[in-house]
Amino acid sequence: MSSEGVDLKKRRFLTATTAVVGAVGAGFAAVPFIASWAPSERAKALGAPEEADISQLEPGALLRVKWRGKVCWVVHRTEQNLADLPKLVDRLADPDSEVPQQPEYCKNDTRSIKPQYAVLVGICTHLGCSPTYRPEVGPADLGADWLGGFFCPCHGSFFDLAGRVYAGVPAPLNLEVPPHQYLSEDVILIGVDGGAV
Ligand code: FES
Repeated sequence: MSSEGVDLKKRRFLTATTAVVGAVGAGFAAVPFIASWAPSERAKALGAPEEADISQLEPGALLRVKWRGKVCWVVHRTEQNLADLPKLVDRLADPDSEVPQQPEYCKNDTRSIKPQYAVLVGICTHLGCSPTYRPEVGPADLGADWLGGFFCPCHGSFFDLAGRVYAGVPAPLNLEVPPHQYLSEDVILIGVDGGAV
């Protein structure tokens, strides 16, 4: 047997051994990766829908609910609030909610399932600050024509009580309406599409 033949055989053996070891190693390495693809209990909890109990929510009040790490608001609009919404249409960037910032079942004048309850994600569509709830009419700092809504102090964006953004402010879009449904007259489930009971 020539020394060349021995070397070739040895080389083939070594190559095959390395390939097997490499494959086994890759298999071991893949296990933690695959395990990490499975959603953890914490991740599942973070993505879970959240219930909002509105039984104690008085007209004019706002309830905060955390869903998927975001603050959502439920606002109990008064009869006066609802009467004021149409008066603002000329001052809004997207009064008819043409941009899909809400589920289809909330593409209406009040951006809601039930007119008296607004359900919104409380995150400004400019750079993500949390706007302030300003339900009062005509406060000194917001002007006599302010009919209630949300003010984002970060860069000065305004939204009405349906979360519709005013024209000419930094925020480009209406506030998001999350998917939601009514489980009963007093409980809203945020995070699941649905409707009224
Ligand atoms: S983040 Fe709200 S105006 Fe800029």
